[in-house]
Amino acid sequence: MIKNKIVLITGGNGQIGAELAKKIIDYNAKVVVVDKNKKLNNSLKKFKKNKNFMHIVADVSKINEIDLSIKKTYDKFGRLDAIVHSAYPKSEAWGTKFENLKKKYLNEDLNNQLGGAILLSQRALRFFKSQGHGNLIHISSIQGTSAPKFEHYSGTSMVSPIEYSAIKAGIIAITKYLAKYCKNSNIKVNSVSPGGILDNQPASFLEKYKKSCNDKGMLEVSDLVETIIFLISDHSRYINGQNIIIDDGWSL
Ligand SMILES: NC(=O)c1ccc[n+]([C@@H]2O[C@H](COP(=O)([O-])OP(=O)(O)OC[C@H]3O[C@@H](n4cnc5c(N)ncnc54)[C@H](O)[C@@H]3O)[C@@H](O)[C@H]2O)c1
Repeated sequence: MIKNKIVLITGGNGQIGAELAKKIIDYNAKVVVVDKNKKLNNSLKKFKKNKNFMHIVADVSKINEIDLSIKKTYDKFGRLDAIVHSAYPKSEAWGTKFENLKKKYLNEDLNNQLGGAILLSQRALRFFKSQGHGNLIHISSIQGTSAPKFEHYSGTSMVSPIEYSAIKAGIIAITKYLAKYCKNSNIKVNSVSPGGILDNQPASFLEKYKKSCNDKGMLEVSDLVETIIFLISDHSRYINGQNIIIDDGWSL
């Protein structure tokens, strides 16, 4: 479905990025994992010498490092078909309750997560325009499309941050804006909004969360990466400016 595509993933060492990178290799496409973490995700180590794989250590909150990552990709593969922005920079106060938020950390997270996605888009689209085609995929969340189900969190120390909801709604807004902004450029911009992903959450949370879903409840990354693959592929050529929710019915 995506054979020979060249895909750059920011945050490619992360939970979603690494699973997506593996899937892209499985499909005989080429993947560039860009992450500020030098240590390659364990599941990707086996690809170190694979000709379809490249690992770039870079901080995508820095414009020059985004541009350099794009250039290195182009220099190695001669093209860059799609960028999936999956980097997830968090301040040290990430996960603070609404009542306790501090301006410094709030600004840092808004700036790095939403501002970072806007500037990443600026650099990606600038390159795509010069190349004559491109495909940008952002990762939003169900927290960007619906209010949190606060009742799921009671009895746990988990918090669904208000700024996360604002950032993720913002990601959907910039996706639509940019898709339309790129009219006549042979560029598409879409986002996906995954539901919660299993990651050792407390059993009480998982149980309540599941009751809001149709079948499975919290998802595994493998439940959502094929949707991103579809967006990378030409089968979605005329899907533009859309946000695809993958949440087992949580938001219904
Ligand atoms: N995990 C979930 O439950 C879930 C659900 C819905 C949406 N999402 C969204 O998916 C995206 C990815 O989430 P994840 O769970 O894979 O996160 P993660 O924390 O597992 O991975 C994020 C990766 O980004 C890298 N990173 C952070 N700042 C960076 C920077 N400045 N430059 C380069 N790399 C940087 C980290 O090193 C890490 O490898 C995020 O936007 C997140 O909001 C996640």
